[in-house]
Amino acid sequence: MKNKILVTGGTGFIGSHTVVELQNNGFEVVIVDNLSNSYEKVVDDIAKITNIKPVFKKVDLKNKCEVSEFFKDNHDFFGIIHFAASKAVGESVKKPLPYYENNINSTINILEMMIKYDINNVVFSSSCTVYGQPDVLPVSETAPLKKAMSPYGNTKHICEDIIDDTAAASNINAINLRYFNPIGAHESAFIGEYPQGTPNNLIPYLTQTAAGIRECLSVYGDDYNTPDGTGIRDYIHVVDLANAHVSAIKRMLDKKMKSKVEVFNIGTGIGYSVLDIIKTFEKVNGIKINYKIIERREGDIEKVWADPTLANTELGWHAKHNLDDMLRSSWQWECRRDKNEG
Ligand code: UD1
Repeated sequence: MKNKILVTGGTGFIGSHTVVELQNNGFEVVIVDNLSNSYEKVVDDIAKITNIKPVFKKVDLKNKCEVSEFFKDNHDFFGIIHFAASKAVGESVKKPLPYYENNINSTINILEMMIKYDINNVVFSSSCTVYGQPDVLPVSETAPLKKAMSPYGNTKHICEDIIDDTAAASNINAINLRYFNPIGAHESAFIGEYPQGTPNNLIPYLTQTAAGIRECLSVYGDDYNTPDGTGIRDYIHVVDLANAHVSAIKRMLDKKMKSKVEVFNIGTGIGYSVLDIIKTFEKVNGIKINYKIIERREGDIEKVWADPTLANTELGWHAKHNLDDMLRSSWQWECRRDKNEG
């Protein structure tokens, strides 16, 4: 019981990498996922890495009946890591209601079950999107939260509030991890990001351009107030991000939390521009990228990078991979992905 963790959204990009790191650290893992943006085969791909096949149940977490049914037979968890959510920013602008319905109801249903079955620990998948364009960089956890740029971003903010209020009124302890930009893939290249359709995020679009699937990468604007004019982000290797979740669970197990809800930025503390990313990708992988500068993308912020000091000191967590590692593994995954499919 002590070491059993439920991972919602465990077949997704960050979820699958976290399952691997949990298993590597001796935790028993159960995955629930509705497979709306992932594949059941990921469960076997995880087992190829760790030699342990996690238990998997297809559950739609926004459906209260399905959730109750699942928890009736499965509730001996030390904690829950809650990733399951819809995450396409542009789609959320066009279809806000399904985003609110899915992301918020799933979180409410999970919290209700935690109270019912006395499961007292949750790690929530939040995002640096809650800071908007910060006034001060690097941004720390004490920075004011700003109105989200999208319904997707707003669901992260709202879910953090719901978790705060629920923790205050129950036995639940929560750690909200605010991720910066997760990229890269496991070094085995058995798991990685499976974007459906045309990718919106920079790295999958870049690797698909390198692979010849896309003709040309569009760089959204070179007139920002940054050294080369392109947008700056704090890119973090997904394996480092996964390990932050293991550190959070261990902090809960070791009863080291200083308040019922804690918040940590999970980033490297280093900002890279879009052109830095393209140049580094070309350097480490020896491939030229066909790209062109076009106008800014609506809703993009100019620059953001983390102050990860709190995670470093309190969680004892540090990002270990550099940008070369991230972009090398992203490319290895792109090259292996087709062979892995089916
Ligand atoms: C986006 C979301 C963020 C979400 C994250 C999930 C927005 C405003 N933010 O972050 O809330 O948590 O995805 O992964 O959508 N870029 C290009 N060309 C491309 C794609 C991106 O130049 O084809 C640039 C962007 O302008 C930005 C950088 O690359 O400067 C990173 O973009 P992206 O990977 O989409 O992530 P975010 O926009 O930072």
